[in-house]
Amino acid sequence: MFEPAEFVERAVRSLRENVSGSAMVACSGGVDSTVCAGLARRALGDRFTAVFVDDGMRREGEPERVTMLLKSLGMRSMSVDARERFFRSLAGIEDAEEKRKAFRNTFYSVLADVAKALRTDCLIQGTIAADVVETVGGVKTQHNVLEQIGLSPSKYGLRVLEPLRELYKHEVREVARQLKLPEEVCRAMPFPGPGLAIRVVGEVTPERVKAVRAATRIVEEETRGIDAFQTFAVLIPVNATGVKDGGRTYGSVIVIRSVDSTDALKASASEIPMQDLRRIAKRIVNEVDGVSRCAYDITDKPPATIEYE
Ligand code: XMP
Repeated sequence: MFEPAEFVERAVRSLRENVSGSAMVACSGGVDSTVCAGLARRALGDRFTAVFVDDGMRREGEPERVTMLLKSLGMRSMSVDARERFFRSLAGIEDAEEKRKAFRNTFYSVLADVAKALRTDCLIQGTIAADVVETVGGVKTQHNVLEQIGLSPSKYGLRVLEPLRELYKHEVREVARQLKLPEEVCRAMPFPGPGLAIRVVGEVTPERVKAVRAATRIVEEETRGIDAFQTFAVLIPVNATGVKDGGRTYGSVIVIRSVDSTDALKASASEIPMQDLRRIAKRIVNEVDGVSRCAYDITDKPPATIEYE
């Protein structure tokens, strides 16, 4: 059985052995990376900085929320505004894997610049077992997997430590509780590293990200009482005809996705009550500019994956 206390002890020891100077932790505010920051604090005290990269692909209010969270945890932290850099690097790319690779490259290039400024080469990041399994298995390129597929982080001038690489999500949550992180972090729904960039199928533009961000907020607001592994919105590259105030509309389609899972390797579509889905669809079509229709995805993993890209 997994013992979180023992794990913390081992991880802290290993971080102390492997970091002689200072380090940084790439922290999105999600459970994996915040657990890494918590372990780093125990192991290194003030010898690390938690770095939040604002890539422009976060959910509404997230940059502010994460900045506050890191402050409230009393960690040395900084936020980097890299929004333009990410949008530029993703412009014109439609293919899912090409997008993921472009995102990964920009992610590590930005962190390399931060590392230089902080005079460190050591990056601690929250890669978990599912990220590695999926990338090595060729299912999809997770943004935070390099060495396991033969890419050296030294290309970016970085040395990467991954204290959680053997754990699955439910185990990471146990470690979060062991570290006494706030309950909102322990329970946080998984959110992919490339964020909303992979929740707009096709090209990433500020307008498309804005639409899926608004739809995501509505889905999250309306499903707070639902105990699912992940619930979110996806903008697909399809337009559909609608009718509003007696006139024709022609807008994009948002897919609502919700799955139950424990390890993210297998998942089943959640049975959300129809009345909840109707309410979400109504709000999205009324409140999000340019959207004319919503659909609910009923596909399990496998054969589908959780995300669309
Ligand atoms: P899939 O779509 O492969 O997702 O069924 C499995 C789990 O992983 C999350 N996910 C990611 N997490 N970086 C991450 O940190 C990524 O690039 C990434 N892609 C997917 C996804 O949200 C789900 O929880």
